[in-house]
Amino acid sequence: MPRLKQNPERFASQQRAEAVPEAVPIPLNRPDVGAEELAAMAEALRATGGYSAKRFVRLCEAQLTADYAPAHALLTHSCSAALELAMLSLDLRPGDEVIMPSFTFVSTANAVALRGAVPVFVDLRPDTLNIDERLVEDAVTERTRAIVPVHYGGVACEMDALLEIAARRGLAVVEDAAQAFGATYRGRPLGSLGTMGAISFHETKNVVAGEGGCLLVRDPDLLDKVLVGRDKGTNKAAFQEGRVAEYSWTGLGSAYAMHEMAAALLHAQLIKARQITARRLSLWQRYRKLLQPLADGGRIQLPTVPEECGHNGHVFYILAGDRAARDALLRCLNDAGVSAAFHYIPLHGSAGGMRYSRTHGTLAHTESCASRILRLPLFPGLLDEQQDRICELLAAALEGDRRSAAGQVRTSFRSDN
Ligand SMILES: Cc1ncc(COP(=O)(O)O)c(C=O)c1O
Repeated sequence: MPRLKQNPERFASQQRAEAVPEAVPIPLNRPDVGAEELAAMAEALRATGGYSAKRFVRLCEAQLTADYAPAHALLTHSCSAALELAMLSLDLRPGDEVIMPSFTFVSTANAVALRGAVPVFVDLRPDTLNIDERLVEDAVTERTRAIVPVHYGGVACEMDALLEIAARRGLAVVEDAAQAFGATYRGRPLGSLGTMGAISFHETKNVVAGEGGCLLVRDPDLLDKVLVGRDKGTNKAAFQEGRVAEYSWTGLGSAYAMHEMAAALLHAQLIKARQITARRLSLWQRYRKLLQPLADGGRIQLPTVPEECGHNGHVFYILAGDRAARDALLRCLNDAGVSAAFHYIPLHGSAGGMRYSRTHGTLAHTESCASRILRLPLFPGLLDEQQDRICELLAAALEGDRRSAAGQVRTSFRSDN
């Protein structure tokens, strides 16, 4: 077993670390899933009427509809599906344009490109890594149909400004709130502010369904169309509500609904969602406190959360000075078994981006931030000792002390997490 370096000032938790010598890798994320989720899934399997009763789907949709009022919540099998359903319901046509950031997951743009429409990328704000609302109006053309604000890390985009532009220019707003479950803007839940909003319950998110998502529909005029789109192009929902005598093919759609087993898992997660968010927020604040001296020394940049944003502790990231510095930190952490990661590779430079999208203006902040970002492990089961060690490792790496820092972290992982 490697010996801990003797430096009690910098490594205050050394004594505790020595008591737990087994080296266990730290994942980037681990969902908080246990007995309650297993019980709910077993109940769904045993239920009379089988999956078709969709009891858990209904329970989750009722709860989410109440939480996101006035938006109506429909569960989907992923956030990607919710975004596709949103773009389908807006009747996007070939050549239509949709404004969004390039710093996002491929699903944001793909949902638009699938309709033959064109994602138009504008630059981000270097403080929040969200779309720069001041650049959006200049990107609007006569072909623009919608704006897609992506709430990076659960920190809200500047929604007042975006909603004002959209209202004045007659555009829809589809919030990509994939990472934003439980986060707010001026006290209102993200995903419920625009025309529609899409949330992810993928296993990498705060609250999970394995794979899952939700489309929040705020505009009541769109609801019937969304239901047809979700139900494979049929008016099955109207039939189930007794509004029509039989159901048949009435429009365009696909199989976008969530499976009952995923909904059972999600239902158990929704019950403990507040607890999960609270723990994540406390770890997020703790990272901030531990890393503040490095930021004060100008070595790294920490995330900014504007006053009007109530975030959900989804991502804790730092920005290194440049790509080389970020890559060195990443290697150092990864070598020590810490699954830190970078994030989105900007879409505009990808093969798909070059084929299906266009950019508006320079994307200098997008390129700079994407090359400097480093995400740190964050999940409810992360131990304070592990968090201390990650920060110590970062500090040591920034001091060029990479080799010895890696040795120390290897000795400090606990096996019970
Ligand atoms: C911004 C954003 N949009 C959409 C998605 C797609 O979500 P899902 O995996 O639930 O389809 C992701 C996934 O991480 C995302 O980060």
